[in-house]
Amino acid sequence: MTETKMPDWAQLWEQGMRESSWMDDITQQANSVNEYWDDQSPRYNRGHDAYRSPVVEKIEKYIDTTTTVLDIGAGTGALTIPLAKKVGNVVSIEPSAGMLDYLKNAALKENLENIEFINNTWEDAEISGQYDIVVCSHALYFVSDMKKSMQRMIDATGKYLFLMIGIHESNDRYGDIWKIIKGTSYKPGPDYANIYNLLREMGWHPEVQIISTTMECQDLDEAVKLATSHFDKSDILAKKDVIRSYISQYVRQGSDGMFRWKDSFKSAFIMVNKNV
Ligand SMILES: C[S@@+](CC[C@H](N)C(=O)[O-])C[C@H]1O[C@@H](n2cnc3c(N)ncnc32)[C@H](O)[C@@H]1O
Repeated sequence: MTETKMPDWAQLWEQGMRESSWMDDITQQANSVNEYWDDQSPRYNRGHDAYRSPVVEKIEKYIDTTTTVLDIGAGTGALTIPLAKKVGNVVSIEPSAGMLDYLKNAALKENLENIEFINNTWEDAEISGQYDIVVCSHALYFVSDMKKSMQRMIDATGKYLFLMIGIHESNDRYGDIWKIIKGTSYKPGPDYANIYNLLREMGWHPEVQIISTTMECQDLDEAVKLATSHFDKSDILAKKDVIRSYISQYVRQGSDGMFRWKDSFKSAFIMVNKNV
């Protein structure tokens, strides 16, 4: 009987990322992933409330005022800031100095003194011991050796590991806008199914929930800005009217005056319970 060969999920992740449109774009726009996020930092904070609240709501069940948290790829603080208000302390790892500056300022503004900042990648950051909960939200895409990085996350987790990762099918609008701006078809990177399978291969039993959010904007201009925030400014300017007209088909104004996308954006919320 021939033995069925299982896919190498870490290798598939690495290959999928390398061949994705997103990686192409990062390498075109910047000399490194770090430089790319430094450039993105002034724009990144906007429009993220929609996904922040449902994630914090899910994590809330597992924390109290003594919980220790490790936030990997913390960015401008989408999770660090709301969690720091509810737990004992948070260690935030963030390699981009630009993103970290926004996070530090947000912590200052909120008078939060229970956050430790580490300006490094997950692969190179020095940490000691375990944290009750480890979170990594939309920052997995950039780690180099996924299996090693994932094992490190598991090892650092005392009780629960929470991961937020994108879903292929939620990229339709982004893919269309990509085509308008770049003139080429959008190749999505690997999605949560890959990480789910990698965790299974490593002997864990992850739980997956899908978080669906509707992006809210003050007006159509803000919707255009948000939907194009990852693209190069000169590319956007050249196609501004076409992008605006495309987006106007997918955004509608509610009775409260706010503009909302007609379709929701989905992300996967993966939880690993170390005791299962
Ligand atoms: C899409 S942002 C997500 C930020 C935040 N977690 C959130 O949910 O809004 C991705 C972040 O991952 C960081 N990042 C990139 N490579 C990383 C690595 N190897 N280790 C840790 N963080 C990384 C980037 O600097 C960036 O701030």
